[in-house]
Amino acid sequence: MRTIIVLNPKGGCGKSTIATNIASYFAIKGKKVTLADCDPQGSSRDWLSIRPNAYSAINGIVVEGDRLQVPRNTDILIIDTPAAVDDKRLKKYLRKAQSLVMPIIASPIDIRAAEHFLKELFSFKGSIDNKIKIATIANRVREDTLIAAKLEHYLDNVKLPNGKKLPFMTMLRASQNYIHAAERGLSIFELPPSKTYYDREQWAPLLRWLTSKRSLPSK
Ligand SMILES: Nc1ncnc2c1ncn2[C@@H]1O[C@H](COP(=O)(O)OP(=O)(O)O)[C@@H](O)[C@H]1O
Ligand SMILES: [Mg+2]
Repeated sequence: MRTIIVLNPKGGCGKSTIATNIASYFAIKGKKVTLADCDPQGSSRDWLSIRPNAYSAINGIVVEGDRLQVPRNTDILIIDTPAAVDDKRLKKYLRKAQSLVMPIIASPIDIRAAEHFLKELFSFKGSIDNKIKIATIANRVREDTLIAAKLEHYLDNVKLPNGKKLPFMTMLRASQNYIHAAERGLSIFELPPSKTYYDREQWAPLLRWLTSKRSLPSK
C-alpha cells in the first residue's frame, strides 16, 4: 500500500488542506483512497462528511492513538496529522509511510518552527531518506512578498543528514479556491479548471513527485 503522510506540528500550515486535495487527486485517478484523520479536530473527517456522493469516493478513518486500521483494498493511504504529536505516535505514523509532505507557511514564526521540527525529524535514527522520502512545500503564499522569498530561499537550501538537498517541491499561493473547495467537501481538482488553472500548475511538481520513484524510499 502506498502511504503518504502530511506532517508539520505547526497548526494552520495547511495539513488538512493538502491531505484532502491529495486524497481527491488520487480518487479522481480511480485509486481506492483512504484518508486517515489522526487529528481530534477532525478537519479531514468533517471534509469527508460533507463530500457529495456524486464525486469520486474516498474512504475515511478516524485514528485515535497510534493504531491505524486501514481497509484491505486501499491503494493509497493519506495520513492527516494533528498539530501536537508525541514522539511515540509520530514514529509509528512515520513507519507506515513512504513519503512525507511538509507544508510550511511564509511567516517568520512558521519558518523557525519548521527549522526546529526538521532538526527533530532528522535526529530520528534511520528513519530518514532510506526509509521515508520527505518533501517540503510552501503554502498559502502571497507572491512577491519578502517573506515568501525568504521561505523559498530557506527551503531551497535545507540539507538532509546525508548532505543531499531536501526536495522543495512547490509554492502554493493563498487562494480562495482552497476555501471554496473545502466548504463543499471538494478539492481544487474538482472545481472548474478555468478557475483553478494556476493552482493546478502549482500542484504539478508535487503530484509528479508523489507519482514517481523519487518519493519512494530506496530499498
Ligand atoms: N493555499 C491556501 N490558500 C488559502 N487558504 C488556505 C490555503 N491552505 C490552507 N488554507 C486555509 O488555512 C486554514 C488552515 O488550514 P488547514 O489545512 O486546516 O491547516 P492544518 O490542518 O495544518 O491545521 C484553513 O482555513 C484552510 O482553508
Ligand atoms: Mg488539520
